[in-house]
Amino acid sequence: MTDHSEQISTPRRSVLQWAAAAPLLALPTLARGQTNAAPANADGFKPRVGQEGKDVIWVPTPDTLVERMLQMAMVGPNDFVVDLGSGDGKIAIAAARDFKARALGVEFNPQMVALSRQAAAQAGVTDKVRFEEGDIFKVDFTQASVVTMYLLPALNLKLRPQLLAMRPGTRIVSHQFTMGSWEPDDSSSVEDRPGYLWIVPAPVAGTWTLTSRGPDGETEARLAFSQSFQKVSGRVRMGDLNAGMRMVRLAGDRLDFELMDQRGQLRMYDGRVRGDRIEGRTLAANGAVGSFVANRVGPVLPIETVRD
Ligand SMILES: C[S@@+](CC[C@H](N)C(=O)[O-])C[C@H]1O[C@@H](n2cnc3c(N)ncnc32)[C@H](O)[C@@H]1O
Repeated sequence: MTDHSEQISTPRRSVLQWAAAAPLLALPTLARGQTNAAPANADGFKPRVGQEGKDVIWVPTPDTLVERMLQMAMVGPNDFVVDLGSGDGKIAIAAARDFKARALGVEFNPQMVALSRQAAAQAGVTDKVRFEEGDIFKVDFTQASVVTMYLLPALNLKLRPQLLAMRPGTRIVSHQFTMGSWEPDDSSSVEDRPGYLWIVPAPVAGTWTLTSRGPDGETEARLAFSQSFQKVSGRVRMGDLNAGMRMVRLAGDRLDFELMDQRGQLRMYDGRVRGDRIEGRTLAANGAVGSFVANRVGPVLPIETVRD
Protein backbone atom coordinates (compact mmCIF):
# COMPACT_ATOMS: atom_id res chain seq x y z
CA MET A 1 0.00 0.00 0.00
CA THR A 2 1.24 3.48 -0.80
CA ASP A 3 1.21 6.40 1.63
CA HIS A 4 -1.76 7.69 -0.26
CA SER A 5 -3.81 4.52 0.16
CA GLU A 6 -3.01 4.55 3.87
CA GLN A 7 -4.74 7.92 4.08
CA ILE A 8 -8.03 6.45 2.85
CA SER A 9 -8.47 3.66 5.33
CA THR A 10 -12.20 4.11 5.95
CA PRO A 11 -15.02 4.81 3.50
CA ARG A 12 -15.88 8.03 5.36
CA ARG A 13 -12.31 9.28 5.12
CA SER A 14 -12.19 8.11 1.53
CA VAL A 15 -15.01 10.43 0.62
CA LEU A 16 -13.37 13.32 2.43
CA GLN A 17 -10.03 12.53 0.83
CA TRP A 18 -11.67 12.49 -2.57
CA ALA A 19 -13.51 15.72 -1.85
CA ALA A 20 -10.28 17.40 -0.79
CA ALA A 21 -8.60 16.36 -4.02
CA ALA A 22 -11.62 17.20 -6.15
CA PRO A 23 -13.20 20.28 -4.64
CA LEU A 24 -15.25 21.10 -7.73
CA LEU A 25 -16.81 17.78 -8.43
CA ALA A 26 -16.75 15.27 -5.65
CA LEU A 27 -19.17 16.95 -3.32
CA PRO A 28 -21.79 17.74 -5.99
CA THR A 29 -21.36 14.18 -7.24
CA LEU A 30 -22.08 12.67 -3.89
CA ALA A 31 -24.82 15.14 -3.03
CA ARG A 32 -26.63 14.57 -6.31
CA GLY A 33 -26.43 10.82 -5.97
CA GLN A 34 -25.32 8.54 -8.74
CA THR A 35 -27.88 7.84 -11.37
CA ASN A 36 -25.20 6.04 -13.37
CA ALA A 37 -24.20 3.61 -10.62
CA ALA A 38 -24.09 -0.09 -11.42
CA PRO A 39 -26.79 -2.57 -10.34
CA ALA A 40 -26.17 -5.53 -8.04
CA ASN A 41 -24.53 -8.60 -9.57
CA ALA A 42 -25.71 -12.21 -9.42
CA ASP A 43 -24.10 -12.70 -5.98
CA GLY A 44 -26.08 -9.80 -4.54
CA PHE A 45 -23.05 -7.50 -4.31
CA LYS A 46 -24.20 -3.90 -4.72
CA PRO A 47 -21.46 -1.32 -5.27
CA ARG A 48 -21.66 1.87 -3.24
CA VAL A 49 -20.43 5.21 -4.57
CA GLY A 50 -17.53 6.22 -2.35
CA GLN A 51 -16.66 2.64 -1.42
CA GLU A 52 -13.02 2.15 -0.63
CA GLY A 53 -10.62 1.14 -3.39
CA LYS A 54 -6.95 0.33 -3.10
CA ASP A 55 -5.50 3.75 -3.93
CA VAL A 56 -8.71 5.64 -4.62
CA ILE A 57 -12.41 5.22 -3.89
CA TRP A 58 -15.00 4.23 -6.50
CA VAL A 59 -16.97 7.06 -8.11
CA PRO A 60 -18.22 6.32 -11.64
CA THR A 61 -17.71 8.76 -14.50
CA PRO A 62 -21.11 9.96 -15.81
CA ASP A 63 -22.18 8.43 -19.14
CA THR A 64 -22.07 11.79 -20.93
CA LEU A 65 -18.45 12.37 -19.97
CA VAL A 66 -17.49 8.76 -20.80
CA GLU A 67 -18.76 9.40 -24.32
CA ARG A 68 -16.95 12.75 -24.57
CA MET A 69 -13.66 11.29 -23.28
CA LEU A 70 -13.76 8.51 -25.87
CA GLN A 71 -14.63 11.03 -28.59
CA MET A 72 -11.71 13.28 -27.52
CA ALA A 73 -9.36 10.30 -27.90
CA MET A 74 -10.95 9.59 -31.32
CA VAL A 75 -11.45 5.95 -30.35
CA GLY A 76 -12.25 3.64 -33.25
CA PRO A 77 -12.27 -0.03 -34.27
CA ASN A 78 -8.46 -0.18 -34.49
CA ASP A 79 -7.96 0.94 -30.90
CA PHE A 80 -7.17 -0.99 -27.78
CA VAL A 81 -8.52 1.02 -24.81
CA VAL A 82 -7.32 0.31 -21.27
CA ASP A 83 -9.20 1.83 -18.32
CA LEU A 84 -6.95 1.98 -15.26
CA GLY A 85 -9.13 1.41 -12.19
CA SER A 86 -12.18 0.37 -14.17
CA GLY A 87 -14.82 0.32 -11.38
CA ASP A 88 -18.09 -1.05 -12.78
CA GLY A 89 -16.49 -1.35 -16.24
CA LYS A 90 -18.52 1.38 -17.92
CA ILE A 91 -15.67 3.06 -19.86
CA ALA A 92 -14.29 -0.20 -21.29
CA ILE A 93 -17.81 -1.39 -22.16
CA ALA A 94 -18.70 1.93 -23.86
CA ALA A 95 -15.45 1.79 -25.87
CA ALA A 96 -16.41 -1.66 -27.18
CA ARG A 97 -20.16 -1.11 -27.58
CA ASP A 98 -20.26 2.45 -28.94
CA PHE A 99 -16.82 2.87 -30.57
CA LYS A 100 -16.16 -0.75 -31.69
CA ALA A 101 -12.75 -0.81 -30.01
CA ARG A 102 -11.15 -3.67 -28.09
CA ALA A 103 -10.92 -2.81 -24.41
CA LEU A 104 -9.51 -3.94 -21.08
CA GLY A 105 -10.51 -2.79 -17.61
CA VAL A 106 -8.03 -3.24 -14.75
CA GLU A 107 -9.65 -3.17 -11.32
CA PHE A 108 -8.36 -4.14 -7.88
CA ASN A 109 -11.75 -5.05 -6.37
CA PRO A 110 -12.75 -8.61 -7.45
CA GLN A 111 -16.45 -7.94 -6.86
CA MET A 112 -16.30 -4.95 -9.22
CA VAL A 113 -14.54 -7.15 -11.77
CA ALA A 114 -17.35 -9.73 -11.53
CA LEU A 115 -19.93 -6.96 -11.90
CA SER A 116 -18.10 -5.58 -14.97
CA ARG A 117 -17.99 -9.01 -16.64
CA GLN A 118 -21.73 -9.37 -16.07
CA ALA A 119 -22.36 -5.89 -17.53
CA ALA A 120 -20.19 -6.72 -20.57
CA ALA A 121 -22.26 -9.87 -21.17
CA GLN A 122 -25.48 -7.85 -20.91
CA ALA A 123 -24.10 -5.32 -23.40
CA GLY A 124 -23.15 -8.16 -25.79
CA VAL A 125 -19.47 -7.14 -25.99
CA THR A 126 -17.63 -10.06 -24.35
CA ASP A 127 -15.80 -10.68 -27.64
CA LYS A 128 -14.24 -7.18 -27.46
CA VAL A 129 -13.83 -6.36 -23.78
CA ARG A 130 -12.25 -8.12 -20.85
CA PHE A 131 -11.66 -7.29 -17.20
CA GLU A 132 -8.60 -8.17 -15.18
CA GLU A 133 -8.35 -8.16 -11.42
CA GLY A 134 -5.07 -6.39 -10.75
CA ASP A 135 -3.12 -3.38 -9.60
CA ILE A 136 -2.71 -0.53 -12.08
CA PHE A 137 0.87 -0.08 -10.87
CA LYS A 138 1.79 -3.68 -11.66
CA VAL A 139 -0.15 -4.52 -14.80
CA ASP A 140 1.45 -4.18 -18.25
CA PHE A 141 -0.68 -1.79 -20.33
CA THR A 142 1.99 -0.87 -22.88
CA GLN A 143 -0.08 -2.33 -25.75
CA ALA A 144 -2.91 0.19 -25.26
CA SER A 145 -3.48 2.80 -27.94
CA VAL A 146 -5.78 4.72 -25.56
CA VAL A 147 -5.55 4.87 -21.75
CA THR A 148 -8.46 6.21 -19.69
CA MET A 149 -8.28 7.16 -16.01
CA TYR A 150 -10.34 8.64 -13.18
CA LEU A 151 -7.86 8.47 -10.34
CA LEU A 152 -6.22 11.28 -8.33
CA PRO A 153 -3.55 13.90 -9.18
CA ALA A 154 -0.83 12.04 -7.24
CA LEU A 155 -1.70 8.74 -8.95
CA ASN A 156 -1.62 10.38 -12.40
CA LEU A 157 1.85 11.72 -11.59
CA LYS A 158 3.01 8.32 -10.37
CA LEU A 159 1.85 6.78 -13.68
CA ARG A 160 3.30 9.61 -15.80
CA PRO A 161 6.75 8.09 -16.52
CA GLN A 162 5.08 4.89 -17.75
CA LEU A 163 2.58 6.83 -19.83
CA LEU A 164 5.32 8.95 -21.42
CA ALA A 165 7.24 5.80 -22.35
CA MET A 166 4.28 4.44 -24.36
CA ARG A 167 4.21 4.39 -28.16
CA PRO A 168 4.22 7.96 -29.52
CA GLY A 169 0.67 8.86 -30.51
CA THR A 170 -0.95 6.92 -27.64
CA ARG A 171 -3.86 8.96 -26.30
CA ILE A 172 -4.50 9.38 -22.59
CA VAL A 173 -7.78 10.75 -21.26
CA SER A 174 -8.37 11.61 -17.65
CA HIS A 175 -11.59 12.58 -15.93
CA GLN A 176 -11.02 15.62 -13.72
CA PHE A 177 -7.33 15.27 -12.83
CA THR A 178 -4.34 16.62 -14.73
CA MET A 179 -0.74 15.47 -15.09
CA GLY A 180 1.34 18.17 -13.33
CA SER A 181 3.52 20.18 -15.68
CA TRP A 182 2.68 17.92 -18.64
CA GLU A 183 -0.05 20.17 -20.02
CA PRO A 184 -3.00 18.55 -21.79
CA ASP A 185 -3.31 18.75 -25.58
CA ASP A 186 -7.06 19.26 -25.25
CA SER A 187 -9.76 19.58 -22.61
CA SER A 188 -13.52 19.51 -22.65
CA SER A 189 -16.21 19.81 -19.98
CA VAL A 190 -19.56 18.08 -19.81
CA GLU A 191 -21.94 19.29 -17.11
CA ASP A 192 -18.99 21.10 -15.46
CA ARG A 193 -16.90 17.94 -15.33
CA PRO A 194 -13.62 18.27 -17.17
CA GLY A 195 -11.94 15.63 -19.29
CA TYR A 196 -8.31 16.07 -20.40
CA LEU A 197 -6.46 14.59 -23.35
CA TRP A 198 -2.72 14.03 -23.80
CA ILE A 199 -0.98 12.59 -26.86
CA VAL A 200 2.26 10.80 -26.00
CA PRO A 201 4.99 12.74 -27.81
CA ALA A 202 7.91 11.12 -29.63
CA PRO A 203 11.30 11.87 -28.05
CA VAL A 204 13.06 14.29 -30.43
CA ALA A 205 15.40 16.29 -28.17
CA GLY A 206 19.02 16.36 -29.31
CA THR A 207 20.89 16.59 -32.58
CA TRP A 208 19.88 15.23 -36.00
CA THR A 209 21.54 15.31 -39.44
CA LEU A 210 19.11 16.43 -42.13
CA THR A 211 19.17 15.67 -45.84
CA SER A 212 16.52 17.43 -47.97
CA ARG A 213 15.93 16.63 -51.63
CA GLY A 214 14.00 18.83 -54.03
CA PRO A 215 13.98 20.12 -57.62
CA ASP A 216 17.06 22.28 -56.90
CA GLY A 217 19.15 19.39 -55.54
CA GLU A 218 20.21 18.07 -52.16
CA THR A 219 20.82 20.11 -48.98
CA GLU A 220 22.59 18.95 -45.82
CA ALA A 221 21.95 20.51 -42.41
CA ARG A 222 22.19 19.82 -38.70
CA LEU A 223 19.11 20.20 -36.50
CA ALA A 224 19.03 20.63 -32.70
CA PHE A 225 15.71 20.20 -30.87
CA SER A 226 14.92 21.08 -27.24
CA GLN A 227 11.88 19.37 -25.77
CA SER A 228 9.71 19.52 -22.68
CA PHE A 229 6.89 17.00 -23.09
CA GLN A 230 5.09 17.90 -26.37
CA LYS A 231 6.64 21.37 -26.53
CA VAL A 232 9.57 21.52 -28.93
CA SER A 233 11.82 24.27 -30.26
CA GLY A 234 14.69 23.90 -32.67
CA ARG A 235 17.70 25.45 -34.37
CA VAL A 236 19.31 24.66 -37.71
CA ARG A 237 22.91 24.90 -38.96
CA MET A 238 23.20 24.91 -42.73
CA GLY A 239 26.64 25.97 -44.03
CA ASP A 240 27.31 29.26 -42.27
CA LEU A 241 23.62 29.72 -41.37
CA ASN A 242 22.66 29.23 -37.73
CA ALA A 243 18.98 30.03 -37.27
CA GLY A 244 15.90 29.21 -35.24
CA MET A 245 13.13 27.05 -36.64
CA ARG A 246 9.62 28.40 -37.01
CA MET A 247 6.29 26.75 -36.28
CA VAL A 248 7.72 23.64 -34.62
CA ARG A 249 4.85 21.33 -33.72
CA LEU A 250 4.94 17.79 -32.36
CA ALA A 251 1.78 15.67 -32.14
CA GLY A 252 2.58 12.07 -31.24
CA ASP A 253 5.06 10.93 -33.90
CA ARG A 254 4.25 13.76 -36.30
CA LEU A 255 6.78 16.60 -36.39
CA ASP A 256 6.28 19.76 -38.46
CA PHE A 257 8.59 22.75 -38.68
CA GLU A 258 9.70 25.51 -41.06
CA LEU A 259 13.24 26.47 -42.06
CA MET A 260 14.55 29.38 -44.06
CA ASP A 261 17.70 28.46 -46.03
CA GLN A 262 20.73 30.64 -46.88
CA ARG A 263 18.98 31.93 -50.00
CA GLY A 264 15.97 33.10 -47.98
CA GLN A 265 13.76 30.27 -49.26
CA LEU A 266 11.19 29.20 -46.63
CA ARG A 267 10.41 25.50 -46.59
CA MET A 268 7.82 23.54 -44.56
CA TYR A 269 8.84 20.12 -43.25
CA ASP A 270 6.20 17.54 -42.37
CA GLY A 271 7.67 14.31 -40.99
CA ARG A 272 7.07 11.16 -38.97
CA VAL A 273 9.44 10.21 -36.19
CA ARG A 274 10.35 6.52 -36.30
CA GLY A 275 12.86 5.90 -33.52
CA ASP A 276 16.16 7.42 -34.62
CA ARG A 277 14.86 8.52 -38.02
CA ILE A 278 12.46 11.21 -39.23
CA GLU A 279 11.14 10.97 -42.77
CA GLY A 280 8.77 13.23 -44.60
CA ARG A 281 7.97 15.77 -47.26
CA THR A 282 8.96 19.38 -47.80
CA LEU A 283 7.01 22.18 -49.42
CA ALA A 284 8.85 25.37 -50.39
CA ALA A 285 7.21 28.79 -50.47
CA ASN A 286 7.60 28.73 -54.29
CA GLY A 287 5.50 25.53 -54.42
CA ALA A 288 8.40 23.10 -54.99
CA VAL A 289 7.80 19.73 -53.33
CA GLY A 290 10.60 17.54 -51.99
CA SER A 291 11.45 14.98 -49.34
CA PHE A 292 13.70 14.80 -46.30
CA VAL A 293 15.34 12.33 -43.96
CA ALA A 294 16.86 13.14 -40.56
CA ASN A 295 18.96 10.75 -38.48
CA ARG A 296 19.54 11.09 -34.76
CA VAL A 297 23.08 11.78 -33.54
CA GLY A 298 23.65 10.52 -30.00
CA PRO A 299 21.32 8.95 -27.46
CA VAL A 300 17.56 9.41 -27.00
CA LEU A 301 17.08 12.17 -24.41
CA PRO A 302 14.22 12.26 -21.86
CA ILE A 303 10.91 13.90 -22.73
CA GLU A 304 10.14 14.61 -19.09
CA THR A 305 12.41 17.54 -18.30
CA VAL A 306 10.30 18.76 -15.38
CA ARG A 307 9.85 16.70 -12.21
CA ASP A 308 6.64 17.56 -10.34
C1 LIG B 1 -12.85 6.83 -9.29
S1 LIG B 1 -13.11 5.15 -9.69
C2 LIG B 1 -13.21 5.24 -11.47
C3 LIG B 1 -13.92 4.07 -12.09
C4 LIG B 1 -14.04 4.13 -13.63
N1 LIG B 1 -12.72 4.25 -14.24
C5 LIG B 1 -14.91 5.28 -14.06
O1 LIG B 1 -14.34 6.32 -14.45
O2 LIG B 1 -16.13 5.17 -13.97
C6 LIG B 1 -11.49 4.43 -9.40
C7 LIG B 1 -11.47 2.91 -9.39
O3 LIG B 1 -10.10 2.50 -9.25
C8 LIG B 1 -10.04 1.34 -8.43
N2 LIG B 1 -8.67 1.27 -7.90
C9 LIG B 1 -8.12 1.99 -6.89
N3 LIG B 1 -6.82 1.71 -6.73
C10 LIG B 1 -6.53 0.76 -7.68
C11 LIG B 1 -5.35 0.05 -8.02
N4 LIG B 1 -4.18 0.27 -7.41
N5 LIG B 1 -5.41 -0.86 -9.02
C12 LIG B 1 -6.59 -1.10 -9.65
N6 LIG B 1 -7.74 -0.46 -9.38
C13 LIG B 1 -7.72 0.47 -8.40
C14 LIG B 1 -11.12 1.58 -7.40
O4 LIG B 1 -11.53 0.35 -6.82
C15 LIG B 1 -12.20 2.26 -8.25
O5 LIG B 1 -13.10 1.30 -8.78
